[in-house]
Amino acid sequence: MSERLFGLYGAGGFAREVMPFARQQLAVAGWRLVFVETLPGADVVNGVPVLSEQAFFEVDAAERGFAVAVADAPARQAIAERCEARGARAMTLQAANAVVYDANQIGDGSIFCAFSMVTSNASIGRHFHANLYSYVAHDCVIGDWVTFAPRVSCNGNVHIGDHAYIGTGALLRPGVPRGVPLTIGSAAVVGMGAVVTRDVAPGNTVVGNPAKPLVRG
Ligand SMILES: CC(C)(COP(=O)(O)OP(=O)(O)OC[C@H]1O[C@@H](n2cnc3c(N)ncnc32)[C@H](O)[C@@H]1OP(=O)(O)O)[C@@H](O)C(=O)NCCC(=O)NCCS
Repeated sequence: MSERLFGLYGAGGFAREVMPFARQQLAVAGWRLVFVETLPGADVVNGVPVLSEQAFFEVDAAERGFAVAVADAPARQAIAERCEARGARAMTLQAANAVVYDANQIGDGSIFCAFSMVTSNASIGRHFHANLYSYVAHDCVIGDWVTFAPRVSCNGNVHIGDHAYIGTGALLRPGVPRGVPLTIGSAAVVGMGAVVTRDVAPGNTVVGNPAKPLVRG
């Protein structure tokens, strides 16, 4: 029988945290939910079936949606592009108590975990992850495939490039109101607990307070 089938890619820790609110959001609209893994390690995880990608696309579905609960940005992008090429639709997931206020633009396939927040006038690209308690404040511009670990404080007028990763508890200083933004370059990594007060160059990893480039011992 033809159905609406939603695949949550991944069955690791993050995916298992996302599935409960994905179910809350989608099951009421008649979607059947499954985990999808490239190499499934189990048939069922937390009561939810786990399908291989091949099996996911073989189900006779009237509509096929997906999101990718995989933190690694290039891996997430590769999965999403494969799914879209096969006609699946990237869907945005939002926990019931996540807050999105006024006039935000948000790309498809994004994931907003419990207690996350986007205030107003932010522009966020595709497949963004806002983990638990993270926020994006006014006038931020965030690229595609960006990942916020838990409790990231992204204050107003911060610009973040594609594939950037912001670690747990990082604090990003606001840009100048209606002026120069604080900029974190593409594929940059901000370590957990960092306090970012200056721009971060593309591809750089910064840690500490104030955040400085990571020097390996
Ligand atoms: C910054 C980070 C990416 C570096 O990872 P890495 O390249 O594997 O680096 P290492 O663990 O080898 O650490 C290299 C050095 O940096 C230090 N360091 C690592 N992370 C640091 C951080 N966040 N703040 C300060 N110092 C840090 C280490 O102590 C080590 O110092 P040493 O050489 O004097 O012993 C990583 O530690 C990090 O913060 N990741 C984010 C984790 C996270 O938030 N996960 C969320 C999961 S939901």
